[in-house]
Amino acid sequence: MSTLIIVGTQWGDEGKGKVVDLLTSRADVVVRFQGGNNAGHTLRVAGEQVIVHLIPSGILYPDTLNVIGNGVVIDPSVLMEEKIGLRSRGYFLNDEQLLISDRAHVIMPYHKLIDVGREELLGSAKIGTTGRGIGPAYEDKAARIGIRMGDLLRPEVLRNRIAVALEEKNFLLEHRFKKRPLDADTIFNEYAAFGEKLGPHICDVTHVLQGKIAEGRRVLFEGAQGTLLDIDHGTYPFVTSSNVVAGNVCAGTGISPRKLEQIWGVVKAYSTRVGSGGFPSELKNDLGERIRERGAEYGATTGRPRRCGWLDMVVVNHSVQLNGLTGIVLTKMDVLTGISPIKFAVAYELDGKVIDRVPADINDLERAVPVYRELPGWTEPIGECRSFDELPRNARHYVETIENLTGVPATIVSVGPGREQSIVRKPPF
Ligand code: IMP
Repeated sequence: MSTLIIVGTQWGDEGKGKVVDLLTSRADVVVRFQGGNNAGHTLRVAGEQVIVHLIPSGILYPDTLNVIGNGVVIDPSVLMEEKIGLRSRGYFLNDEQLLISDRAHVIMPYHKLIDVGREELLGSAKIGTTGRGIGPAYEDKAARIGIRMGDLLRPEVLRNRIAVALEEKNFLLEHRFKKRPLDADTIFNEYAAFGEKLGPHICDVTHVLQGKIAEGRRVLFEGAQGTLLDIDHGTYPFVTSSNVVAGNVCAGTGISPRKLEQIWGVVKAYSTRVGSGGFPSELKNDLGERIRERGAEYGATTGRPRRCGWLDMVVVNHSVQLNGLTGIVLTKMDVLTGISPIKFAVAYELDGKVIDRVPADINDLERAVPVYRELPGWTEPIGECRSFDELPRNARHYVETIENLTGVPATIVSVGPGREQSIVRKPPF
């Protein structure tokens, strides 16, 4: 097997970064296919913490090729900052470690202003976006007025496209969001300079990837966000602006579905979400607080406290089906140590009916009352366990219950933040 997709099965922050980082040691290529620097992957290596937002997690390995696909939206200033930061810590010493699609869209200064301005106007109805300009950049892509990474290398094209975009954006900024209009020359100078600096990375990555897969190289596709934040299948409108599901690997990189093999979903042993929107199994009490503190549940991108709750198997099974999962990576099991009983939702009650699907309407989701089952917890610390049999009996039972409820094997169980704190039951490559 040579291709593996890793996706989040909840609302993001399931620990994908650590999992991808762990599996990267066996991969030749790591690819981002959607989202942007709204994502934040916390990687821990030799006791040190590294957070990446845009550059694929494989960057910590000198021999791994990292690819940003056409489906990603890129803020070049963030990319530059990340590159400089990694380099100062001894990573990413070779430019050839990163390829960026010439078809990926660029997040421009007006996208960030519009993202923030729109949230301000929405007031209490806000989405709770990361404010990074992600949504407005995808809007421009669909409206066919976007600027692509390849345009940064063609000054005349870039100048013209900025002028066209600003005609509309400055009207919006001034009259709708009451902000100052932006100057075309200033943006052009800044972005043309980004083009010069990032030029060595920008190319037709689809062609490169197709070649790597044809050669039988091990390619890992790294999802960002989580399935419940998918623009079509998530808790709309409280979602991100891209398709997060595994199927978007094809459109977001240009690889045929016929080439894709394993699809693993990362399931956190409990649930969290940042931003607004329905979350039936949320714990708005001391236990929720305790999980937040023990699990360090604060946004890697925005630092916001994450809302915490019990595991929701309705959500997980929604993701199992949408992504066609062949494996589950269960993370943060150690955070549940000492909590007993451990509850998990298996259905919702809505208007007197029991349902086991995520309702399309956000108001229905907000009214849905979880139907819980529970299992006894465990008290033994599990951070040192390196095989499934070393886990306490009740912890094993929790894992097996999730496997039974999903019909998908738990291929990795993560018992702590360190790369080595992982029980790998089935290596992917
Ligand atoms: P946006 O992606 O910045 O437009 O934000 C839309 C929604 O997705 C908000 O609720 C964000 O908090 C959420 N979101 C975006 N990226 C992530 C992520 O990587 N982890 C968790 N939530 C995210």
